[in-house]
Amino acid sequence: MSLMMSAPTHIPVLLEETIEALAVQPGGRYIDCTLGAGGHAAAILEQSSPGGQLLGIDADPEAIKVAGTRLEAYSGSTLLINENFVNLESICIKYDFLPVHGILFDLGLSSLQLDSDGRGFSFQYDAPLDMRLSPSQEVTAGDIINTSSEKELAHLIKTYGEERYSYRIARHIIQERPIKTTLQLARRIEQAIGGRRGRLHPATKTFQALRIAVNHELEYLETALKQAVNLLGFDGRLVVISYHSLEDRIVKQFTQRESSGDTARLRLINKKVITPSDTEVQFNPRSRSAKLRAAECIVTPDEYYRAAEKLCFPVGVKAVGWRRPALLKKLREAFSAA
Ligand SMILES: C[S@@+](CC[C@H](N)C(=O)[O-])C[C@H]1O[C@@H](n2cnc3c(N)ncnc32)[C@H](O)[C@@H]1O
Repeated sequence: MSLMMSAPTHIPVLLEETIEALAVQPGGRYIDCTLGAGGHAAAILEQSSPGGQLLGIDADPEAIKVAGTRLEAYSGSTLLINENFVNLESICIKYDFLPVHGILFDLGLSSLQLDSDGRGFSFQYDAPLDMRLSPSQEVTAGDIINTSSEKELAHLIKTYGEERYSYRIARHIIQERPIKTTLQLARRIEQAIGGRRGRLHPATKTFQALRIAVNHELEYLETALKQAVNLLGFDGRLVVISYHSLEDRIVKQFTQRESSGDTARLRLINKKVITPSDTEVQFNPRSRSAKLRAAECIVTPDEYYRAAEKLCFPVGVKAVGWRRPALLKKLREAFSAA
């Protein structure tokens, strides 16, 4: 069976490679931290059937709706949660979904978001400068653009966009404020630094920087990766697909750190990063910058149980319940069965 399925809204990237790296098996329990349109999730459910279970998380309520419809056939085996993956550990404890056989992060945005004309992620469409994954977040890209100092803006564009003309762009933005829409911002950047540079539109890097800042993408990724390792059972797999060098650097350093020394908790599955084939890039140009890294948990059930006891402390009210003998017994059974 080929896993190369085409989705109406978002084409899942490195799909076969992801399923292989997760080592999806019938009856397994998986978490998709970035559910999106549910493309990877559908393949995980298909491969883990019969008996597989999937916890799908997305910060964007629209993604939960779309994926919910797409995964309807598996509704008895799925739990879809509109949450930020920065809360991964507490979500799993709340829904009693641990330990797991595999955790997937397919970072960034889906085509649903990039091609939406009202979310402000893309300068292909004129829209208010929003860029929030979830309407519950307070700060929009417009707030950052219109209230930051020139120095703050330049720093943000340089750090998160790796843009060498960050100071010039920041100065031009300040002169034009208030800036209300994506096109107004893109035009101003073009005036600041000129036209296209190679394949990239001059506003590309600034838009990336704003999106990262609005959604705390790098901090949240670091936090969630640390939590993910605590949730994997022995042999459980962690798979991360990233789309720009800042994300990939975090994943690479994290997996290297966790897989070296006496206290290693992970073993790297692929020493070299996995990238899409030319055929995939041709079929889905948005996959071109994708990088997949995978690692396996090498913590034994016993060690895992001890770590889980520690895990109970930082989770507040729930921790009280988890320390009760009956629940601890359940936890021990679950971990040793993993
Ligand atoms: C590239 S898409 C995933 C596409 C999905 N794998 C598929 O095949 O349809 C990334 C998704 O992750 C979500 N996302 C990004 N950062 C998130 C975070 N911190 N917490 C929860 N969801 C997040 C986005 O809203 C988006 O829907």
